[in-house]
Amino acid sequence: MDGIVNRVTRLLGVRYPIVQAPMGWIARAQLASAVSNAGGMGIIETSSGELDIVRDEIRKMRDLTDRPFGVNIAQLFVRDPSIVDFVVGEGVRFVTTSAGDPRQYTATLKAAGLTVFHVVPSLATALKAVAAGVDGLVVEGGEGGGFKNPRDVATMVLLPLVCSKVEVPVIAAGGICDGPSMAAAFALGAEGVQMGSRMVAAAESPVHDNWKQAILAAGETDTVFLNRFSRPGLRALRTARSAALEREEHVGMDVFARAMDLYFGGDMEAAIALAGQVIGRIESIKPVADIIAETMAGYHATVARLATPGASGAAARA
Ligand SMILES: Cc1cc2nc3c(=O)[nH]c(=O)nc-3n(C[C@H](O)[C@H](O)[C@H](O)COP(=O)(O)O)c2cc1C
Repeated sequence: MDGIVNRVTRLLGVRYPIVQAPMGWIARAQLASAVSNAGGMGIIETSSGELDIVRDEIRKMRDLTDRPFGVNIAQLFVRDPSIVDFVVGEGVRFVTTSAGDPRQYTATLKAAGLTVFHVVPSLATALKAVAAGVDGLVVEGGEGGGFKNPRDVATMVLLPLVCSKVEVPVIAAGGICDGPSMAAAFALGAEGVQMGSRMVAAAESPVHDNWKQAILAAGETDTVFLNRFSRPGLRALRTARSAALEREEHVGMDVFARAMDLYFGGDMEAAIALAGQVIGRIESIKPVADIIAETMAGYHATVARLATPGASGAAARA
């Protein structure tokens, strides 16, 4: 499969501009190395806060892949700032920073020679990150899974808006799971895509099969937005528990107290399962290598179809 040469693949040193999202407890060596080995960018999480384990996972990556990989610093969850020195010390080349002020770590990480992309949910944050000196942005639409700005804006609106106002390369996140959605993101100005929900349902994802099956069973309306009038906003799979929480004024982080029982024990009511609207489009559990190969094939087919006079939308569905 042809690779893509653009600013994102050059900066990240990857064949395909497909980034696996950082996800607490999930984005660890088993999943991330599969992504890097398939030509994409595997990312190790830090949002679990389990920094000793995360350190081991970063080291494990060296045994599992000789390809580039990155680390996410989820600023909201950083209790021990030494993680920044550790990431620098481990020779990681690519970092995404998220859930915090882009001015906090960018200068330190850049001075150490790392490539830094900041995750942004709005134009104002995008401009702030660019002013802080980041190399690029992950522009994350509100339909995506995970922690969200309560003033959520869909990828279809946010992505072209930000791309029209900044010069730095942009990776699109939120709602992307295949070639046509990747091509759409590129049409709107992105040079890379990040997939979260699609990767939760990958064969190499470590979550319990009940979570993967719940994704396959879910429709596009089967997510809830928690903390609409509070913080942090969260988009999660609709379950009896999350649907009840949707009406609460404030949902605290104690909702994750039994997260391990959900993530790895399969009790879908033990906590909440972060997920994006795109779960409505995910119909099978596949190995990461197939997800990436099929996404690239679908991307090239979509671009070719759009260049064909008189092409109909039906081809996209074929
Ligand atoms: C289970 C889960 C956990 C996530 N945890 C993080 C995180 O730790 N840090 C972060 O920057 N984003 C996190 N996100 C957001 C993803 O990075 C990504 O941007 C989002 O999932 C993209 O939307 P999609 O789900 O439509 O692919 C998480 C998303 C999910 C589904």
